[in-house]
Amino acid sequence: MLGMSETQTSAKLLPILIYPDAVLRKQARLVTRADADEVRALVPSMFATMYKAPGIGLAANQIGSLLRVIVVDVAPKETPAPIALINPEIIAKSDELATQEEGCLSIPDQYAEVTRPARVKVRYQDVQGVKKEIDADGLLSACLQHEIDHLNGVLFVDYLSPLKRNMLLRKLAKAVKEQKAR
Ligand code: NI
Repeated sequence: MLGMSETQTSAKLLPILIYPDAVLRKQARLVTRADADEVRALVPSMFATMYKAPGIGLAANQIGSLLRVIVVDVAPKETPAPIALINPEIIAKSDELATQEEGCLSIPDQYAEVTRPARVKVRYQDVQGVKKEIDADGLLSACLQHEIDHLNGVLFVDYLSPLKRNMLLRKLAKAVKEQKAR
């Protein structure tokens, strides 16, 4: 996790790609040692972009980078709990399922209920390259699964029935068109 001063000096807001941008469907690649400088610059900007939106999670694909990096913060605004995950990987998931309403900064203003494993264990590296694990349930579990999906080109709408998905994407297309006309 980064200190505040570092976040403030290097963070810049990045444009968020909107569906159906092709980068959202791409598989992101593993971060290696050679990417260290790029990741150190990327993470504060991803946090700044996520908080500004505002959102509770952001994957690198969404800002046009194909590195396996996600940032999340599901804590209340007054008590921020930012977590940056490099090369995150779900290593265990519960049989029990949970349904939560999800949205996505790349599919703005559209929400739908998505059913996923209730709990997951995620292995990742922090920005210093230290290996870590998180046991997540509730909102954090759904958020981590949603963001890791992004790194594999998967979007929450993929879990909906074709009928629901088409309705939601038609509404999105209409809203984007109206936005552009303004
Ligand atoms: Ni998303």
